[in-house]
Amino acid sequence: MREFRLETRVEVYATGELDDIYRRLYEAAFEASKHAYAPYSKFHVGAAVLLENSMILSGSNQENAAYPSGLCAERTALFYAGARYPNTAVLVLAIAAMKDGERMDLITPCGACRQVMLETEQRYDKPMKVLLCGKEDVYLIPSAKALLPFCFSKSALV
Ligand code: THU
Repeated sequence: MREFRLETRVEVYATGELDDIYRRLYEAAFEASKHAYAPYSKFHVGAAVLLENSMILSGSNQENAAYPSGLCAERTALFYAGARYPNTAVLVLAIAAMKDGERMDLITPCGACRQVMLETEQRYDKPMKVLLCGKEDVYLIPSAKALLPFCFSKSALV
């Protein structure tokens, strides 16, 4: 028998410790959550992306009466970025959620969003950092790949 370990180094910051750009993304993600269309779950998620050209774009979850037709905040933001700036890498994705008008503790993205995050990272061949924004703590994950071990990706298709 052989074994190996998968390890990820996650940096944990108190909100007051964040550098300016991360602070801006943190606020942009919470702000975006206010634009969620979430009449069914009432779970308001916001995502903000920092592009290589220094722009910040955001998205929020958009629900539908036919539930699977809705989309998470992360994919809304990433697809928006890809549609508007297809040749510009995404350097950071920040994620935040609010419930009943209150900032929540940090949330972690669903599997489908992780898969799209991975595709974005590989598309631009540059690590995409993920900032999980809670009302007190913030986790900084070094890359999308770290969130999806043993992933399926384009390398399997060549
Ligand atoms: N949701 C997101 O937008 N992002 C996540 O990371 C988790 C879940 C949305 C999907 C749905 O609109 C609501 O939150 C409840 O699952």
